[in-house]
Amino acid sequence: MGFLTLDGLTKRYGEAAAVSDVSLGVAKGEFISLLGPSGCGKTTTLQMIAGLVEPSAGRITLDGRDITHEKPDRRGLGIVFQSYALFPHMTVAQNVSFGLEMRKVPRAERDTRVKQALALVQLAALADRYPRQLSGGQRQRVAVARALVIDPPVLLLDEPLSNLDAKLREEMQFELRGIQRRVGTTTIMVTHDQSEALSMSDRVVVMEQGRIMQVDAPYRLYESPATPFISTFVGKMNRLPGVWRQGGIEAGGRLLPCDGAGLAEGAAAVLAIRPEKIGLTAPGGGVIDGCIKARFFLGSAWFFTVETSAGLVGVSLPNAGAEPACEGEAVGLAWSSASAKAGRPEGVLSA
Ligand SMILES: Nc1ncnc2c1ncn2[C@@H]1O[C@H](COP(=O)(O)OP(=O)(O)O)[C@@H](O)[C@H]1O
Ligand SMILES: [Mg+2]
Repeated sequence: MGFLTLDGLTKRYGEAAAVSDVSLGVAKGEFISLLGPSGCGKTTTLQMIAGLVEPSAGRITLDGRDITHEKPDRRGLGIVFQSYALFPHMTVAQNVSFGLEMRKVPRAERDTRVKQALALVQLAALADRYPRQLSGGQRQRVAVARALVIDPPVLLLDEPLSNLDAKLREEMQFELRGIQRRVGTTTIMVTHDQSEALSMSDRVVVMEQGRIMQVDAPYRLYESPATPFISTFVGKMNRLPGVWRQGGIEAGGRLLPCDGAGLAEGAAAVLAIRPEKIGLTAPGGGVIDGCIKARFFLGSAWFFTVETSAGLVGVSLPNAGAEPACEGEAVGLAWSSASAKAGRPEGVLSA
């Protein structure tokens, strides 16, 4: 039983189910992300929690109270959408104050709370500006202040950073998480960006076609993805098909070491390993040899694609300051058997 619980939550549009049987318990103060590809039902789930979309089935409870059919304003949740939707003719302070006026909070208290909310998002100095006089990041901080000023039991964020450019987006990820830590508001954020979900959340809920596929802490999700889809959607994953033999997978004429619990000798299997868990050696020095097909410089890392007899393998190495192997060079690939995992081709896979 969580502070906020979803129990068999379902939304159908005609024959099609946008959200199917979603059950989730969210603890007080937790930061949860709903992560998945476009169209998987994230926004619909969030809008059912907000009260903006009527569920076809299921139940929502908040702090023990059934709110499934309660009006949005009675729920009193804070909501920030992708488009900032600030009132253009109101100043920053007036925008933030609006929700308090609607709730008939007295003037003096309103002013104090608006000041506190603006201080929280570091915009106290810009209280008298209009939205058009702000940058995208500042506008989004106003939207967050406006959502938090009513002291909501739950903050709902729908792709709150997706209109920002890459650099600002990364800064705002840390900032938004910092704000959430300080005020301790239970938060549910929708995102299709796996790195955003991993870096900000206590737990990540992965959705696919309206259903929850996995709920886990970011590190566990990355290290133990429950399905092949999640293993490639969250981070990169090499998947090399072969046959399970004692101690590894036979592929491309080699025995590639990996952990293969539960597999029968001779069974068709797939070896899964993350690019950053593979090292480059001299030819003959690793578990399989290959030829560098392409090399990409990413600043903090180098990414290689290496042609091997077992298939094309992605390798990521941290940038250590010296230029590494070039395209066309023969190399060996090395990894420890603990960092690679084998599973049935269609089955549960992790690495
Ligand atoms: N009002 C609606 N009428 C019909 N279908 C809808 C409506 N809203 C959403 N859908 C469908 O429900 C599915 C989930 O949509 P949505 O929750 O917006 O996904 P996401 O936010 O993960 O991109 C999609 O297939 C979408 O087309
Ligand atoms: Mg959406």
